[in-house]
Amino acid sequence: MSDREPRFNRIHLEPLSPHVGVEIAGVDLAQPIEAETLDEIRQAFGRFGVIFFRDQQLTPDQHVGVAERFGPININRFFSAVPGYPMIAEVRKEPEQTRNIGGGWHTDHSYDTVPALGSMLYARQVPLTGGDTLFASMYAAYDALSVGLKKTLEGLRACHSSRHVFGAEAMVQRGDLAGRHGNAELATQDAIHPVVISHPETGCKALYVNPGFTLRFEGWTVEESRPLLDYLYQHAVRPEFTCRFRWRAGSLALWDNRSTWHFALNDYHGERRLMHRVTIEGSPLH
Ligand code: SIN
Repeated sequence: MSDREPRFNRIHLEPLSPHVGVEIAGVDLAQPIEAETLDEIRQAFGRFGVIFFRDQQLTPDQHVGVAERFGPININRFFSAVPGYPMIAEVRKEPEQTRNIGGGWHTDHSYDTVPALGSMLYARQVPLTGGDTLFASMYAAYDALSVGLKKTLEGLRACHSSRHVFGAEAMVQRGDLAGRHGNAELATQDAIHPVVISHPETGCKALYVNPGFTLRFEGWTVEESRPLLDYLYQHAVRPEFTCRFRWRAGSLALWDNRSTWHFALNDYHGERRLMHRVTIEGSPLH
């Protein structure tokens, strides 16, 4: 880290890669978090886009309480909730199921007009091997583009949607995922966002399109948009912009939906993986 980067006295950081992902040691999230410690956690979140904590013992109420330190909770309208906890979405795959939730590069809630700040995923049960999650930094992806392409993208906005993922037609093709997603009738909203955003907290520029939910550039057809989107998608996941997190039961991740993408690997058939996800409200993107 350079001299201009934040200094950390309360927490110990172990970066997973230069651009994205850091493990934070020395914090028990079940205990009240002091303001100075929370401030350093927020700094690490801004710098690395996704932060990880190991060996946490959290009840569902404590999980929600930790998430609320980062902002109000956004109740996900498509995922099944943990019984008794509407604020906690279940990310579940049973041994007999073949499809997983989040098994492709995406960022959560880009289909909302005010997309979520972040998602806090807590591992309750994980397979013996597999089920890792990949993350990619959209700061690094943007920074590495040529000056010419940056200029082209600056003026563009893109259309995002949930219809093709959570809508009624999509459900027909979703196989055994259908039981874990619901409310297809609510997948009616499209959202338009800048293709390059200035991050609301860090002020840094990030690429804000993603393979999961972006349909096309505003004013362009889907066919016209496809080649440039495809270029951006393969560029954005260059290995040096990514990290890979290996879960253990009790691991907790908080990722920034404005500056990262993620991809849940589906390589653990025959085993259960059960995660609890709380989503945090964001602010309009510019
Ligand atoms: C998700 O996309 O929210 C799920 C990520 C994961 O299960 O690792």
